[in-house]
Amino acid sequence: MPLRIRPAVSADLPGIVAVYNHWVEHSAASFELVPVPIEDRRDWFRDHSRGGRHRILVAEGEAGGLDGWASTSQFRPRRAYDTTVESSVYVRPGTAGRGIGTALYAELFRAVADEDIARIVAGVSLPNPASIALHRRFGFRHVGTFTSVGRKFGRYWDVAWYERPLRVDGAGPEVGDPATAAVTTSSPRPSP
Ligand SMILES: CC(C)(COP(=O)(O)OP(=O)(O)OC[C@H]1O[C@@H](n2cnc3c(N)ncnc32)[C@H](O)[C@@H]1OP(=O)(O)O)[C@@H](O)C(=O)NCCC(=O)NCCS
Repeated sequence: MPLRIRPAVSADLPGIVAVYNHWVEHSAASFELVPVPIEDRRDWFRDHSRGGRHRILVAEGEAGGLDGWASTSQFRPRRAYDTTVESSVYVRPGTAGRGIGTALYAELFRAVADEDIARIVAGVSLPNPASIALHRRFGFRHVGTFTSVGRKFGRYWDVAWYERPLRVDGAGPEVGDPATAAVTTSSPRPSP
């Protein structure tokens, strides 16, 4: 059976958490330090299942197994950030490099293409060449790297941040351009 990308349903939650927890335990791709119980993800799942700009897609592989998932989530809680979403993607161990991440992101960005979103952002703890290649492929541009912002496995990790407009057909301001930033942040304001 070919790979099928579809919206997640509640029966997918154990598989989603299993994939995620593998990377929690074996990598710094997630900054969770210990595996996440399924119960702790139910609210997150519900919040991402209302058909809006925050959603979860899954990749259903051969024999109906879950080969990966991707999501758009809230970036930061203050309301002005609502038009920004953070994307995430995780594929089942042993399936990396087979195009599953690409298929998930392609469908995810198609699914949200008509949402009220201005920017999609992603943070990648370094090193992660596969994730960087994936994000670049989808038009994300590196806008900066926070150094030593996470501590896991007894060491500190840098996180590279990427962003793209909702659609990457060329329109929109030059992101990360200091000239543009000077126009949009013209007066001192409280911290966002
Ligand atoms: C990052 C991840 C989602 C990519 O998914 P994937 O199914 O392996 O990716 P694809 O097979 O679709 O390949 C996407 C790109 O990554 C490249 N790539 C894949 N594995 C790679 C590797 N180990 N090293 C370098 N590049 C790699 C592919 O060549 C492809 O690049 P291209 O589009 O320029 O040809 C997957 O590797 C993963 O789940 N990693 C662990 C969790 C993680 O890091 N998630 C991202 C958190 S930011």
